[in-house]
Amino acid sequence: MGKSKWTRREFVKRAGQTTGAVAIGLSFADFLAACGGGTAAPSTSGGTGNLEIFSWWTAGGEADGLAEMFKIYQAKYPNVKIVNAAVAGGAGTNAKAVLKTRMESGKPPDSFQVHAGQELISTWVKAGKMEPITSIWKAQNWDSTIPKDLKDIVSSGGDVWSVPVNVHRGNALWYNKKILDSNGITPPVTMDDFFSALSKLKGKVQAPLALGSNGNWEVQMLLENNIVAAGGTDFYKSVMTGKASFTDPNVKQALTWIKQMLSYVNSDHTNLGWDDADKRLIAGTSAFNIMGDWAKGFFTANNWTANVDFGAAPSPGTKGVYMIVCDTFGLPKGAPDRDNAVAWIQVAGSEAGQAAFNPKKGSIPARTDVPASIFDPIAQQFIAEFKTDALVPSSAHGSATPDAFASGVNDEMGQFVLNKDVNKTADNLQKLSDSYLKS
Ligand code: GAL
Repeated sequence: MGKSKWTRREFVKRAGQTTGAVAIGLSFADFLAACGGGTAAPSTSGGTGNLEIFSWWTAGGEADGLAEMFKIYQAKYPNVKIVNAAVAGGAGTNAKAVLKTRMESGKPPDSFQVHAGQELISTWVKAGKMEPITSIWKAQNWDSTIPKDLKDIVSSGGDVWSVPVNVHRGNALWYNKKILDSNGITPPVTMDDFFSALSKLKGKVQAPLALGSNGNWEVQMLLENNIVAAGGTDFYKSVMTGKASFTDPNVKQALTWIKQMLSYVNSDHTNLGWDDADKRLIAGTSAFNIMGDWAKGFFTANNWTANVDFGAAPSPGTKGVYMIVCDTFGLPKGAPDRDNAVAWIQVAGSEAGQAAFNPKKGSIPARTDVPASIFDPIAQQFIAEFKTDALVPSSAHGSATPDAFASGVNDEMGQFVLNKDVNKTADNLQKLSDSYLKS
């Protein structure tokens, strides 16, 4: 990499910022204050009735993690009926649309999965659809266990709006260990290492690189990881804040690498989800997949053992960088079972909740006091690297950029896998930047 870090402070500053409020010269804090609203009182209820939890966790690993957290909740509140309202589709491709309709028609779930940063702040908080959870945060003393960096990206206007339950790593390269070992390939570090490994495997496995791109976001992740690999974290920060251009040679390099990667992937990728791609690693028909560490949750749910059957490395060219994908739960205004929702938020932020959830989910805990020893060796390594790596927030998963931008890029990358036109795509990405990232 050799590029300077996007400091934790800058990461936090960017992820919590809305371009709209800045554009009209109103501080974001003022804007939120104008939205009004009290702050949620901690739950004291013993709990009866329902608890409807909305997410998109339906695949192996992620569904198991959620089920574990439900068990913790159910043991504390045995008389509450948990309603799992998960809507299938990785990265919330379908769930987010369903949630929008429900929120806009005044039928919110009791609590829902939402990414820290802009997806939370510049969407739901800005629209005045959430209750602050500041008093729960204080009562649970989460300042002592959840890093300030994470608190800051779920905060605005002096209030906290959701509780981080995990940190996923978006820039990870997964590999079938036996295939690499039997072909004398060491885990690639640089982009050159990666392409030489892929070319060595061509003809030996069906498709050296597994891809499931039916949500387009999977290719959007390749784009953001490759932008970091090409330009470093300072460039990533500049381009994702509208300061650098998407027509810059670094972005064109990132797109060219994707194009090159596409020559090693399975031809049916547009019909497959991320988990289908990971099945190909398990089947041994592919050697590599670039995906967030929910892939690890999927592998372990399928009885694959970390560092025995599969291994992990930072995605090529991104050593020393941690692409953050942070899932949180908040409290929508008008939650039908509000007390139960408050109790859910308490469980999601608790040591027991996070210790149950994260090992199955594939992520590392947001809390710093969950013992690393309960995790697999790859998660242990990620826990250590999270403390020292340069942190960058993911755009594909809602933290770095507003939803309108991320969803435009999503469509654009869906086109790119078909037309593979680097210049045209760079131009179109810049048009999205002009529309949504300028402040
Ligand atoms: C991300 C989410 C992860 C995981 C992934 C695949 O957006 O943050 O928790 O669920 O999508 O569905």
